[in-house]
Amino acid sequence: MRLSNDSMANLDLSGIARERLALLPTPLQPAPRLSAAIGVEVWFKRDDLTGLGLGGNKVRPLEFLLGEALARHCDVLVTGSGAQSNWSMLAALAARRCGLDSVVCFYGTQPPEARGNLMLQGLTGADLRWTGDASRASVDLMIEQVADELRSAGRTPLVVPRGGATARGSLGYLAAAAEIADQAADAGLINPTLWLGTGSCGTQGGLVAGVAAGFIPRVVGVTVSRPADECRERVFDLARGAADLARTPAPDATMVTVIDGFIGPGYGYASHDGAAAADLVARTEGIFLDPPFCAKAMAALMSSARAGEIDSPVILLVSGGGPTLFVQDGPL
Ligand SMILES: Cc1ncc(COP(=O)(O)O)c(C=O)c1O
Repeated sequence: MRLSNDSMANLDLSGIARERLALLPTPLQPAPRLSAAIGVEVWFKRDDLTGLGLGGNKVRPLEFLLGEALARHCDVLVTGSGAQSNWSMLAALAARRCGLDSVVCFYGTQPPEARGNLMLQGLTGADLRWTGDASRASVDLMIEQVADELRSAGRTPLVVPRGGATARGSLGYLAAAAEIADQAADAGLINPTLWLGTGSCGTQGGLVAGVAAGFIPRVVGVTVSRPADECRERVFDLARGAADLARTPAPDATMVTVIDGFIGPGYGYASHDGAAAADLVARTEGIFLDPPFCAKAMAALMSSARAGEIDSPVILLVSGGGPTLFVQDGPL
C-alpha cells in the first residue's frame, strides 16, 4: 500500500482538549548504513526528539492528558511507575509546563542515590512517594490513596495510571500515525511496517487506531515487560478506546501484532541482543537506542531480518528513554 498524502488533514481532533507540548512533526530519517548492514530498508521515526525534557514517546499522550487536566481545572497530576520511568519524569515535567503540581508514586523503596530519570524527576519538584512494595501493582493502590488525600485537602487531581495508558493518552499516537503517513508518502515508502517497543501498550494502542483509520499499513510491537497475550488485549482495548474518542474507524483484533522473546533478563534490564543491536545502530547511524525499549525492539527487528521475514521497508519508532542510558545496572 502506497500511503496517501494529507492524512493529517483527514484526522479531526479539534473537539478534544489538547495542550501543545511536543515539537512536531518529528523527523522520519533514512538509515542507509544500517539498512546495508542488515539487508532491510530501515527508517527511523525520531520521537526521541519530541522536545520536552530529553524527548520521548510519552510527550505525545501527555498533550491530551494535560489538555484534559486544564479543561477540568485540575491543579495536580497524580501518577506512578518505577523509579527509572521515562513516563513519570515527563508527566511531572509536562505538569509543570502547564502550571500543575504533581505527585509521583513509585513501587519499591527509595534508592540511596538518584540517577537517570530519578535524578531528573527530583528537578521537577514533584512530591515523590514510595510504596515500599516491589510489586508494580502496588503503585495503582497508592495512586488512588493519594488522589483521595488530595481531594480531602481541597485539591483537584488528574489521576493517570502507570505509563499514561488510557484511551485519551493513545490519541497521541493516533495523531502520530497520521503524521507518519504523510511523511512516508513524501518519502515514497511503499507498505512500511512500524516497529516499536511496547510496555504499558498506550503507544501501540494509538498506532493500531491509526492502522484502522488507514494511515499506516502495519504495526509490530515488541513486548518488553508483559506476556504478549496480555499486551494484545491491552493494545486492542486502548486502540478501540482511542478510535471511539476520535470517531475514527474501529480496529479489529487482526491489526494487533505483538511479538515476544526479547525481554531478556527482565523489564528494565538491558538484554544481550538489545545491546548488540544498539551498538550497531550507534556505529552505523549515530543514534543511541535506550536499553529497556528501543534496543529490544531493534533486536527483534534484526532477528526477523535475519530470518528473511521482512520484504518491505521498516520504520523503527525511536521512542526516547535517553536518561536510562546512564542507569545500566538495575531495573526501571
Ligand atoms: C522510551 C520508551 N519507549 C517505549 C515505551 C513504551 O510505550 P508504552 O508504555 O506506551 O507501551 C516507553 C514506555 O515507558 C518508553 O519510555
